[in-house]
Amino acid sequence: MKSRLLSSALALALIPTMTLAAEAPRVVNENGRHALMVDGKPYLILGAQVNNSSAWPSAMEKVWPAVEYMHANTVQVPIAWEQVEPKEGQFDFSFLDSLVGQAREHKVRLVLLWFATWKNNGPGYAPEWVKLDNARFPRVLNRDGKQLGSLSPHNPATLEADRKAFVALMKHLRAIDGDRHTVIMMQVENEAGTYGTDRDHSPAADKLFAGPVPDALLQRTHKSAGNWQQVYGADAGEYFHAWSVAHFIEQVAKAGKDVYDIPMYANAALRDPFKPGPAGGYESGGPTDNVLDVWKAAAPTLATLGPDIYMPDYARYTAVIDRYARPDNALFVAETGSSKPYARYVFAALGKRGLGFSPFGIDFTGYSNYPLGARKIDADALEPFAANYALLAPFIDVLADLSWQGKLWGASEPEETHTQDLDLGEWSARVGYGQPQFGVDPAPGNTELKGGVLIGQIGKDEFLVTGRHARVNFGNGKAHAGRNFIMARVEEGHYENGKWIFDRIWNGDQTDYGLNFTDVPQVLHVRLSTF
Ligand code: DGJ
Repeated sequence: MKSRLLSSALALALIPTMTLAAEAPRVVNENGRHALMVDGKPYLILGAQVNNSSAWPSAMEKVWPAVEYMHANTVQVPIAWEQVEPKEGQFDFSFLDSLVGQAREHKVRLVLLWFATWKNNGPGYAPEWVKLDNARFPRVLNRDGKQLGSLSPHNPATLEADRKAFVALMKHLRAIDGDRHTVIMMQVENEAGTYGTDRDHSPAADKLFAGPVPDALLQRTHKSAGNWQQVYGADAGEYFHAWSVAHFIEQVAKAGKDVYDIPMYANAALRDPFKPGPAGGYESGGPTDNVLDVWKAAAPTLATLGPDIYMPDYARYTAVIDRYARPDNALFVAETGSSKPYARYVFAALGKRGLGFSPFGIDFTGYSNYPLGARKIDADALEPFAANYALLAPFIDVLADLSWQGKLWGASEPEETHTQDLDLGEWSARVGYGQPQFGVDPAPGNTELKGGVLIGQIGKDEFLVTGRHARVNFGNGKAHAGRNFIMARVEEGHYENGKWIFDRIWNGDQTDYGLNFTDVPQVLHVRLSTF
């Protein structure tokens, strides 16, 4: 009797320990909707990516104050092959150990960036025993036989060495983080691809290029069999290189995921969405918008393909997010510029119901990638990002749920036009920028580009709405045509642990001209009606 009691007591004592090992992160896709699940719940990344050379214990001291100031919930940090395997077969994961510990102390999650065979085209972050040994690890040759900086994706020894190191990394990560999942995603390589050629023209590559296009790609692109030139004509070189790079990365990612199953993705150095020019002028072989299907066919292990957006103008920025937010691809703005105009795009990006948004170069090490980003990274530069994240972070879990349900819309301020119309199904919303809070004057736009709103549907006729430097006027959708519109009730409140706490009702001046968002962080619940 006694021993039976004891054993059930023991069993009870074990339960909390077992539940501690939360479900591993994963990306789910259903009917064209997506979510990154963390601890079993939808999660949206309010990210910050550190500078390339900040992944060292001495530099991390300058990272955390910037991350805290930003109110980021996730930090992207490189793990460099040269750092973890400086001598072949000898691994050192001490930085990773301290990084994971520090992230836990700062209560943020991590996305690790595997800088290896490709870091923006070249193997800069590969160990010297790799990047200096052209015989064992050959580089891409251009059409004239000239050796380029990029390593060839066709060389088995390069794949073997990279994969071995990545598997060792994932094994170590599973051992130190398999129960806590502080690390929620892995980026496999960084801006993979090659500048200066459409494809690798080495003899090994030429042989493959003359061979048949793989079935998976034929199916995906609805083509019938043939060699690359026959099937893809003028695009053949680029499609071939995209297949080769993606196939290489697939094998690295798959081997890593087999030892520790968390989401993996790749990021893209973009081509201009409107005037791309020829492949090689932009990074050929990477997951640019024209070869997403090639990557999807070649690298099914990757949960998503994320754009690195350094185009501050509204037309190109929104064209890029439109092209990467697809039923088969969850939008993750894997990098974006750090200068002020980029901050407002968090609203449009989250409105695409993907995985999140992450500006690049966020730390106080003193480096700035101007003119891609801010001239100087300091509190003033980061203020608009920090203010937007501070607004959204307290209820980001609520937004993540709405995003996964397909009930979230976003808008960011354009340069040329100052109003936007959102179709919310049965209802609509007009967003205006730059008006004072009182009066019906037309929207002139904000003096700085900083406006944005997020709207989520929380009930049949009920919406959550928040924003910065913008006015929202709800209205009838088609479903209510011919009726008079009225906002039945507008509540201001706040969220505590995912629960709505009512603070006051807005009415009169506060609603007569629309719902005006300024730099004061405010969240509303609005019930719409007609009479
Ligand atoms: C995009 C790359 O992915 C980043 O690592 C960095 O090099 C930026 N470009 C430029 O700062």
